Amino acid sequence: MIPMGLSRGGKGNGGGGGRNRSLNERLLRCHEKIRTFLAIAARVAARAGAPKERADAAADVARYFGSAFFDHAADEDESIFPRLPQELAALAARAGAEHVRDEPIVRVMIEECDLISQGVEDEAVYEKLAGVVSELTPRLLEHLTFEEDYLIPAVSELDPALQTAALEEMAQRRDAR
Ligand SMILES: [Fe+2]
Ligand SMILES: [Fe+2]
Repeated sequence: MIPMGLSRGGKGNGGGGGRNRSLNERLLRCHEKIRTFLAIAARVAARAGAPKERADAAADVARYFGSAFFDHAADEDESIFPRLPQELAALAARAGAEHVRDEPIVRVMIEECDLISQGVEDEAVYEKLAGVVSELTPRLLEHLTFEEDYLIPAVSELDPALQTAALEEMAQRRDAR
């Protein structure tokens, strides 16, 4: 069964669910949500479920990737990576470049999911979504694993004041929506 409504309730929670979580936990929770919504997008592309269920799931995917996903990339680019030690700068730059690389294809996925959420049952829309999801999924999963292996472990080693500053920026980023 496709989980519904997972992207709701994001406003004001500070990112990654709950302002009382550590910076590390929030980033990892965001990664789990990205994995979850990629899997939901694949189910939509495969036309799993009844049309109404599929439309709702497509709306969830579009909503998640249109807001929380880009917030997470902005968190990393603007609030996390600049605070990491200099020796990680090249690895952080690689992850940042992957954010830029993936944005256009994510936007296409959102567009196709928006159409399906509106009840469009056109075969061409599903084919386009399937192509985009199959291209995006492996590279995004690899990106998440790369960050988890090389960058996120360093986040918990950051000076607590730096972690607090990053958390405050992340909260402000969501409050500004
Ligand atoms: Fe990232
Ligand atoms: Fe990330």
